[in-house]
Amino acid sequence: MCSGSFAKCLGITLIPLAILCVLCNILLFFPGGLVADDSSHITDEVFFFGGIIGSGILMIFPALVFLGLKNNDCCGCCGNESCGKRFAMFTSIIFAGVGLVGAGYSVIVSSVAINHGPKCVTNNGNWSYPFSEGNYLSNNTMWTECTKPTDIVPWHLTLFSLLLVMSLVEMALCAVQVVNGLIGTICGDCCGCCGGE
Ligand SMILES: *[C@@H]1O[C@H](CO)[C@@H](O)[C@H](O)[C@H]1NC(C)=O
Repeated sequence: MCSGSFAKCLGITLIPLAILCVLCNILLFFPGGLVADDSSHITDEVFFFGGIIGSGILMIFPALVFLGLKNNDCCGCCGNESCGKRFAMFTSIIFAGVGLVGAGYSVIVSSVAINHGPKCVTNNGNWSYPFSEGNYLSNNTMWTECTKPTDIVPWHLTLFSLLLVMSLVEMALCAVQVVNGLIGTICGDCCGCCGGE
């Protein structure tokens, strides 16, 4: 397959992932699916915007660049047919790097959040973080330590786990595009679409 069309496939996959990451992060602003009475009742890591900025907005730029690679004008520079396309492939490596940083940020935030656990009302009636070092992950008897909001532990765990997995996939796709972009830069987009390569 031409490296340009392959990049387009990566771009098409990244866009729904980025949208889902933004959605997960937005849902996390509603602990247990309810509107929080006070923003101090929302788990701190939600405000790091890992899903909205990291694996969401920062991922849209590389996704759009990858999508456009197939149709790039390859007869752009100095009458050299392939060099415009090579330059586009080279640029895509930089954008893949942006994607790696964004998704990497989201991976870190999600991991910290899963380890830290959610903020909730504990048995003494105060808002706090009853868990530490991920100790609640292997013992769901402990989940009853969170009395409010209802189902906050599965809510927190499910959404941050989804964010973690989707951000890891995004990182993998961007890493693939780094390699694909290098191949495209060195060999040209081996398509034959403008007569040259
Ligand atoms: C799980 O947590 C409960 C409540 O803190 C504790 O009583 C129990 O011993 C724990 N179970 C395990 C297997 O660690």
